Amino acid sequence: MIIQPRVRGFICLTSHPEGTAQHVKQQIDYVKSKGKIENGPKKVLVIGASTGFGLASRITAAFGSDAATIGVFFEKPAAPGKPGTAGWYNTAAFEKEASDAGLYAKSINGDAFSDEIKKQTIDLIKEDLGQVDLVVYSLASPRRTHPNTGVAHASVLKPIGQTFTDKTVDFHSGVVSDISIQPVESEEDIHNTVAVMGGEDWKFWIAQLKEAGVLANGVKTVAYSYIGPELTYPIYRNGTIGRAKDDLEGTVPVLNDLLQDIGGISYVSVNKALVTQSSSAIPVVPLYISLLYKVMKEKGIHEGTIEQMQRLFADRLYANREIPLDEKGRIRVDDLEMREDVQAEVAKLWEQITTENLEQISDISGYRNDFFNLFGFNFDAVDYDMDTDEVVNIPSIK
Ligand code: NAD
Ligand code: NA
Repeated sequence: MIIQPRVRGFICLTSHPEGTAQHVKQQIDYVKSKGKIENGPKKVLVIGASTGFGLASRITAAFGSDAATIGVFFEKPAAPGKPGTAGWYNTAAFEKEASDAGLYAKSINGDAFSDEIKKQTIDLIKEDLGQVDLVVYSLASPRRTHPNTGVAHASVLKPIGQTFTDKTVDFHSGVVSDISIQPVESEEDIHNTVAVMGGEDWKFWIAQLKEAGVLANGVKTVAYSYIGPELTYPIYRNGTIGRAKDDLEGTVPVLNDLLQDIGGISYVSVNKALVTQSSSAIPVVPLYISLLYKVMKEKGIHEGTIEQMQRLFADRLYANREIPLDEKGRIRVDDLEMREDVQAEVAKLWEQITTENLEQISDISGYRNDFFNLFGFNFDAVDYDMDTDEVVNIPSIK
């Protein structure tokens, strides 16, 4: 079928198999261009492996240090007349490239919050790898059904305490407008958001993997967080999602206790703001990202998800030196985003930005391009008027 972008709100309903394959290939080529990561991970489980930071982590592990990888995610398969989701196609392309390179790669598609998927993953590790030496936790989800209570928690993106009003952009139309977001009405919203995006499920994963004996001595586990600039504090770090990130970060000492007897260690890495399916859903953030991209590209310090994850692995997690941590014990690969000169320039542009000057003073076109790239669109090498085979299988998924 002919597959072109069909956008509704901040999501794209279609994905292109050849375009997503290009996207994966570009990321693989980038990792290869940086050379081997000495003493990198060898057997890796990535939870949330099909898009964004999780996919970039998987690619870095596989093509940066020849790791065998198991990826867990929740994606829709391709069917005749109905394209699969981007994460489905990404994984199909990744597994093919891995297999061509002689690397083990298998995937599990299902709800990572469930005990059943955890068990399936444990069985697969036992059967094929024995143990893993790195567990990457990179889920981003709007909901979670709790495995013990059966309660379906839905996360919200709201400020806490007072209404937040600031600029936002509709990145498709380019209209900059003011948006007011009402604060949470009850503790319930906070509780639900923490239940979905906090650290409990990471802890459940690590506890069950350890219990099953599939974590190697000296295992590392890493999850991803965000801080960002003061201007997004009300909606991000001081809002409901920020409470969830506090909870995620607070899980590190708990996991360190749990892993102590096998010499394991856990980290949270604070990553840069980037265009992903999850971040495009947050109000205000896309406008901030458009200005951030502009400033960071001008300074020659812009990074995408793959550059971030390659740097996390090569310069932090596996750099063969003590890992530098901030005062709260976190790894910071948002260091360039948070640089004083970068933030000062973004803040100045933030005051000036309007619908009229959006194209000139922000990198909204870069934002849009990255957004469409997520779904396999806007790649020069792909002819989007041509028929393409929409049914693509992930080799390891029957
Ligand atoms: P993403 O939407 O690109 O990826 C989410 C992944 O989770 C996908 O692989 C998806 O299939 C999987 N997933 C979602 N629900 C699932 C479920 N129930 N079961 C199994 N898999 C499921 O998101 P992302 O932006 O890469 O976010 C990953 C992490 O990085 C999040 O913790 C996020 O907060 C954090 N982070 C993001 C940014 C950013 O700017 N995007 C910045 C810093 C940190
Ligand atoms: Na991810």
